[in-house]
Amino acid sequence: MKELLAATSNPHKLHELRAIFAPLGVGVLGLGDIPGGPFAEPIEDGGSFESNARIKAVAYARMTGRVCVADDSGLEVLALGGAPGVDSAYYAGRDGTRAQRDARNNAKLLAALAGVPEEQRTARFVCSMCAADPDGSVLATSRGEFTGRIGFEARGVNGFGYDPLFVTSDGRTSAELSDAEKNARSHRGAAARAMAPILAPTPGKRPGAGSVLP
Ligand code: IMP
Repeated sequence: MKELLAATSNPHKLHELRAIFAPLGVGVLGLGDIPGGPFAEPIEDGGSFESNARIKAVAYARMTGRVCVADDSGLEVLALGGAPGVDSAYYAGRDGTRAQRDARNNAKLLAALAGVPEEQRTARFVCSMCAADPDGSVLATSRGEFTGRIGFEARGVNGFGYDPLFVTSDGRTSAELSDAEKNARSHRGAAARAMAPILAPTPGKRPGAGSVLP
């Protein structure tokens, strides 16, 4: 099985990426699985999901000497002009544990949408993915989206981040979906599946260097 390094310190993303890539014949290692760490975190100052994914993939591929896939993702809420967007992880500040930040982010999002009616609470998760070679070249990029709306209270215990507030097309939040259901519908699942044929090509075919996928 081909193995990729996932450039993330988020255990939830790593768990999802492993489950999404496994049926595609691609194994996923985390930064903690390889010797030489801890690795210096690159500054994500690209200003867009695409450029932040590229910054992370290239930096970790160079540092580790391995083909590396990075996911940069977040939530865009139409009524908030696309916020929290690239600031999704730290929407309500950088202090505390991941779980504390998620809880504060969700509280801030509900407050920002107070009084906004259901039909104006449209939102989407976006995931940009980038795979880079240890020489610093980009092997492939992809993007996935997951459309829904922001609910009025948190529901569900699965997933992470804004999942308890993100109401999907069937009325359940993404925290009420099973892992398999979320991965089949999510921004991360779509981006990873778009990337897989490039990263694990059929024998005899060379990956398209610098390919940009829809
Ligand atoms: P990143 O690690 O800079 O890409 O930040 C991603 C942030 O976006 C996470 O910390 C979450 O707040 C949010 N996010 C991204 N994907 C998801 C998801 O699948 N569910 C819930 N929140 C997500």
